[in-house]
Amino acid sequence: MLECAESYAVWREAKLHDYPATAEALRVEVRDPRALSEAERHKLLQLCRKTNMAIYASQLDGLADKQIPRRLGEQFGLTRLDSNLLADEDAVTSLRVVPEKSGRGYIPYSNRRLLWHTDGYYNPPEGCVRAIVLHCVTPAASGGENALLDPEIAYLRLRDENPEYIRALMAPDAMTIPANTEEGGENRPAQTGPVFSVDPATGSLHMRYTARTRSIEWKPDAATQNAVKALEQLLAGDSPHIFRYRLAGGEGLLCNNVLHNRTAFADDVDKGISRLLYRARYYDRIRGTGVQDA
Ligand SMILES: [Fe+2]
Repeated sequence: MLECAESYAVWREAKLHDYPATAEALRVEVRDPRALSEAERHKLLQLCRKTNMAIYASQLDGLADKQIPRRLGEQFGLTRLDSNLLADEDAVTSLRVVPEKSGRGYIPYSNRRLLWHTDGYYNPPEGCVRAIVLHCVTPAASGGENALLDPEIAYLRLRDENPEYIRALMAPDAMTIPANTEEGGENRPAQTGPVFSVDPATGSLHMRYTARTRSIEWKPDAATQNAVKALEQLLAGDSPHIFRYRLAGGEGLLCNNVLHNRTAFADDVDKGISRLLYRARYYDRIRGTGVQDA
């Protein structure tokens, strides 16, 4: 797909044909995400094949059950969970405001905005996060909206603009995440790798990215700098392919680790409203969404 201009052109046209125009078009109502009907599962899978993401909407508003993301994922071949440093014991992370954790600089546990990224961009290659389930138990009192962009669209738009951007972002030394050190020793060594890569096992495109400017070192040559700038502009722009959606209680995002960000949010403690999301990260890709499945 990448080297051959002709097959890329065919793929590109198919990708853009009938591409959903709104986040609403990604939404599938389901009775119970833990046990989908075949029709519900099929609809979600078709969306993931097209856009690498889908939103399921259930009536389980407020139900704090970690089996919801787990069982939902299992129905799409997602079984190998990534346990990160701060995940709860069962490797499904509760995302909510935790003052102690956010004080250490782990923004996902605060209510501040999150810049564009893919999950696990700091993981070593063997810890590559290929899919995520993000399940909303309770939304915030206000804010907490996600923007979402299919990495294949990001690739396509950058390649349309200048194929040199893709070359630069596929370089194995494009992006380095310095070692994460906390008091008492080193938790994670530095990770150097590409932004875009093709999974040799499946031929699927994978993307590692963060818009953070702290704790990241881009290759200092002009080609990389220009490519990163072009990507930043794409993400900051009003591309019709960037979906904006605020998950309601009982709703969730199933995706092949798409680019995402989050607006700041506010809880209303007096009214007992505090945002709770469960996040499950997987080494697996959603089954049936590979290029060879097209
Ligand atoms: Fe994330």
